[in-house]
Amino acid sequence: MKSIVILISGRGSNMEAMLAADLPCRIAAVISNKADAKGLETARDHGIATAVVAHAEHASRELFDAALAAEIDRHRPDLVVLAGFMRILGDDFVRRYHGRLMNIHPSLLPAFPGLHTHRRALEAGCRIHGCTVHFVTPALDSGPVVIQAAVPVFAEDSEATLAARVLTQEHFAYPQAVRWFVEGRLTLGRDGRVLLSGERRDGDVLLSPAPDHPKS
Ligand code: GAR
Repeated sequence: MKSIVILISGRGSNMEAMLAADLPCRIAAVISNKADAKGLETARDHGIATAVVAHAEHASRELFDAALAAEIDRHRPDLVVLAGFMRILGDDFVRRYHGRLMNIHPSLLPAFPGLHTHRRALEAGCRIHGCTVHFVTPALDSGPVVIQAAVPVFAEDSEATLAARVLTQEHFAYPQAVRWFVEGRLTLGRDGRVLLSGERRDGDVLLSPAPDHPKS
């Protein structure tokens, strides 16, 4: 059975969604760069090994990345899952885990890399927003897309209501992406695209605002 290591920095709700998804893999450890990350408690409550590699205790990004990699490699994971891990990782770290480092970002990439994605989507007047699970490459919030989930943006939305709507879909999309990986169904093409074997074609167009007459 394949195994994964999950990296978090805070709440850990995406990690929790993975624990609840009964994935066909072993969750070898949850690692945080912050000792007070709430998700660590949740992981411990589930009997999962936890570790803290505090960025504040390392003199440089390189030293932090090396300590983090050493902790990850102790568990020999097939996949490293960034779930709300809020540190930028150096190029050497990213290359070390090429093809086995995944991230979730709360926007429909390549729109809105970086922070405050929901606020920026509102300011831009987007009618559709969402989240992206992708393999990590050295450039910030970029890399081959595994799955995206789109949600409508409503006129009365605040940053909080929009974030909550997206988060609900994150909790569905990320466990699905990890499941595909551990089932061996994802191939990383040289063209920077991800191929999903046995891909199901379903779903219709999402129009937002909805049209006056639903399509029949
Ligand atoms: C999630 O919304 C995730 O998409 C985002 O942080 C949140 C973590 O929530 N990640 C990023 O912004 C990474 N660039 P969680 O700790 O409850 O899973």
